[in-house]
Amino acid sequence: MRIAPLDPADIRDPIAVITGGWSREKDRSWLSGNTVAEALSEMGVKTLVLDLADNRDTLLEGLAEASKAFLAIAGRGAEDGRLQGLLETLDIPYTGSGVLASAIGMNKITAKTVVSAAGVRVPRGTRIDPTATAEDESLRVSRMLELPVMVKPVSEGGSIGLQVAPTVDSLAQALIDVADGELMAEAFIPGRAVSVGVLEDQLGVVHVLPALEARTPNGIYSYAAKRGDAECDYHCPARVSPDTLADLQRQAAAAHCALYCHSYSRHDFVVGDDGRAWWLEINTLPGLSRAGNLARMALADGIPYELLLTHILRGADIDRRTRP
Ligand SMILES: Nc1ncnc2c1ncn2[C@@H]1O[C@H](COP(=O)(O)OP(=O)(O)O)[C@@H](O)[C@H]1O
Ligand SMILES: [Mg+2]
Repeated sequence: MRIAPLDPADIRDPIAVITGGWSREKDRSWLSGNTVAEALSEMGVKTLVLDLADNRDTLLEGLAEASKAFLAIAGRGAEDGRLQGLLETLDIPYTGSGVLASAIGMNKITAKTVVSAAGVRVPRGTRIDPTATAEDESLRVSRMLELPVMVKPVSEGGSIGLQVAPTVDSLAQALIDVADGELMAEAFIPGRAVSVGVLEDQLGVVHVLPALEARTPNGIYSYAAKRGDAECDYHCPARVSPDTLADLQRQAAAAHCALYCHSYSRHDFVVGDDGRAWWLEINTLPGLSRAGNLARMALADGIPYELLLTHILRGADIDRRTRP
């Protein structure tokens, strides 16, 4: 994909880099925010770093000075469409997907329903009924899905609160331990974690980046592995067969389009031991640090970090009235 370099003369007013916030992913958001702001400044773009957790007046004053908002933030309150809705109401162009894709994408159950209707392969799963007891729910889930199952929050990221439950008792315990907001249980697919980035140009043409494999001893791309606190080797392109690669690319592009994403997105899969790829979730605002997964995939495709940011920044010019 050809991305024309940025001419800083085209951008006179400062770009607000929105980061931080109050979600459980705020540390990772700050990592993205600081890296993006620094890189944009080096590229000659005036930036203004705004913390979404700041008080309302500070935030609104900052936004009033900016010509566009660059979203370098993840998690609830930011990746779920709320921030996008605020910016649209204030008539401030912003990077990334719109309200619709962000809201659906943040909810793993709804997102799976939408993408599976578009032919994307998703593991069977179920929402945990918060009004039922952990014992009743663990029995119901074990009858519906084969054990082990994966228990995870419906609207969290960064592998926060993830647990594999191999028995009915451990499942009941996991439902008690993880109990923080809405939960889901999903068939556990033994295999390896593979992520696929998608870039979409301003005409809506979708370009799939080389797949990235995060190899861990137990196959799970955990919270510790993501933070560099546990063993994890990265391979880009992922070491999968040409058929699996084609399948990953097809599914990532289909999910990006089915969810009404714009500009860029990153899709997490597990590739089972039989080579079949299962779509797990979308990240509408994936991490943007230099060593982050999207930057790694872009680089493997010959796109340096600065050009990746240029592409994302140009995405703010999309007409949100015609492209929800
Ligand atoms: N059903 C599953 N089967 C096997 N591994 C899974 C499953 N769900 C999640 N994982 C593992 O956990 C990681 C994080 O899960 P994911 O659904 O991407 O949530 P998060 O939003 O926390 O990143 C995945 O990259 C994968 O390694
Ligand atoms: Mg993930």
